[in-house]
Amino acid sequence: MCGIVGYVGPRAALDVVVEGLRRLEYRGYDSAGVAVIGPDGAMQTAKKAGRIENLDKELANRSIAGSTGMGHTRWATHGAPNDQNAHPHTSTSGRIAVVHNGIIENYAALRAELEAAGVELVSETDTETVAHLVAAELQGAAESLADAVRTVCRRLEGAFTLVFLDTAEPDVVVAARRNSPLVVGVGDGEMFLGSDVAAFIEFTREAVELGQDQVVQIRRDGYTITDFTGAPVDGNHFHVDWDLAAAEKGGYDYFMLKEIDEQPGAVADTLRGHLLNGQIVLDEQRLDAQELRDVDKVFVVACGSSFHAGLIGKQAIEHWTRVPVEVELASEFRYRDPVLDRQTLVVAISQSGETADTLEAVRYARTQRAKVLAICNTNGAQIPRESDAVLYTHAGPEIGVASTKAFLAQIAAVELVGLALAQARGTKYVDEIQREFDALAAIPDQIARVLEQLDAVRAVAREIATSKAVLFLGRHVGYPVALEGALKLKELAYMHAEGFPAGELKHGPIALIEDGLPVVVIMPSPIGRPVLHQKMGSNIAEIKARGARTIVIAEEGDLVARSHADYLIEVPAVPTLLTPFVTTVPLQVLAAEIAQARGYDVDKPRNLAKSVTVE
Ligand code: F6R
Repeated sequence: MCGIVGYVGPRAALDVVVEGLRRLEYRGYDSAGVAVIGPDGAMQTAKKAGRIENLDKELANRSIAGSTGMGHTRWATHGAPNDQNAHPHTSTSGRIAVVHNGIIENYAALRAELEAAGVELVSETDTETVAHLVAAELQGAAESLADAVRTVCRRLEGAFTLVFLDTAEPDVVVAARRNSPLVVGVGDGEMFLGSDVAAFIEFTREAVELGQDQVVQIRRDGYTITDFTGAPVDGNHFHVDWDLAAAEKGGYDYFMLKEIDEQPGAVADTLRGHLLNGQIVLDEQRLDAQELRDVDKVFVVACGSSFHAGLIGKQAIEHWTRVPVEVELASEFRYRDPVLDRQTLVVAISQSGETADTLEAVRYARTQRAKVLAICNTNGAQIPRESDAVLYTHAGPEIGVASTKAFLAQIAAVELVGLALAQARGTKYVDEIQREFDALAAIPDQIARVLEQLDAVRAVAREIATSKAVLFLGRHVGYPVALEGALKLKELAYMHAEGFPAGELKHGPIALIEDGLPVVVIMPSPIGRPVLHQKMGSNIAEIKARGARTIVIAEEGDLVARSHADYLIEVPAVPTLLTPFVTTVPLQVLAAEIAQARGYDVDKPRNLAKSVTVE
């Protein structure tokens, strides 16, 4: 997820673009850059790693004039977050400049093709290939920048919003989109582009949304939209009535609520490009195939929600690979003399990639000669830098302190690791890997369905907002979901909340049940896990008999759940190992709603920080 701005009009383009980038910085802050076509027709670019202040310092020494420009704030995907990989990227002659949000899946093939043709690429990004491809089209048959962009887009796979400048057409900006957002801002004698309306809301509230696989050309006097074949299409015009602060959050009251809604995309982007020709591929792989094949034990180390993602991953990895998996809190791991050797794979899960406990666990594992695979949401962070292999989650920046979209993306990633190991060890055939991957790929649509049916959750939240405590019960993969639901409630609503495996209740926690106590139950699937489903039915009956108010999260059509539930929250049926994707979402919303009802800031819970860099 990156932020993109484009402008053509009478104003100084640099000012408009940099201001737009400031408003979009929440979308990524690894690096920032601008390109403006000067009055002499030359392409002027400036880019810097780090936050926009670094770009500001660079711009203070430059004089960049001109009224056609674009800018980018980056959340790194391909290539470390440094000056060279920052956008914009230019063609060799400097005629074309491009900025990009998204992932071009077939970039390796495109890069190889360009290199074979003698083109020298100067960055590690997938984006730079596009600048060279468009330049090549313009040297060939393309009649205009828009024409060249359409031809190149037809060859691209993956997700992208791309914005282009061409010194041969100094009064236009051209942009294209597929699976990534792009909005046109319609001014009077000026036009804007943005990843979202926050980029230009200061100047105009009239906007046009682009559809899938469309290209737009903006000029001072208007815009033209076509599909990738050049056929004209109408954009979807709308008026923006948010204020500036709301616009940055996409109209939501809190970033966290926006991030909950972004979860289908976070999971889809994390899976994207990781099954190539029937093979699971990681992002960085410094282990050879034999080392992966030799793995005979896995430890997952992580903290908080990332630890819960590890507990879910354990079930999948053991099931698919028959390799034993232990999941450890990173803060405990190195202090207890764990048994590690060359054949141990340590999977370190961290959204930030900076968590001190997890980083130290990684360092300790390496001193014991174990191999380390990082699952991380932050490109180039310390944990992936110190690991032998990396799989990035593509949730984009998470601003709300409580993990939501990063958590679901972590589950997707750890399940991909399970498939990669199964493939290396030969415990799954290619067609089985494909089937499991396809089931994962269908999950974003199911999450989207859950997001459409949250009224029941909001109603429950109102009912229990004043309770003193809430218990969460699960079994199998539902147990880590119960832990995650309880953690969310503790950290956001400051309520006492505990997650238990339902079978443990009778060994102690059942003493906590009293009249009116809300208990959230994550019901196993009646089809996928019939025995556990039946046992959970008995567990619910036990707590109801002692006065608990039951809030049951169950598969659609589960009649047993319906008969036991004081409040029923239904989710779509999905394969058992994937149920946490759909059962977690109502619990995130429950916690956020209760926190709001109790008057708390859900983005910034007290005493907590997004990145915990002390042990
Ligand atoms: C909970 C939460 C934390 C983090 C934990 C690990 O909502 O966000 O529990 O999951 O601090 O952080 P990372 O994943 O950055 O290592």
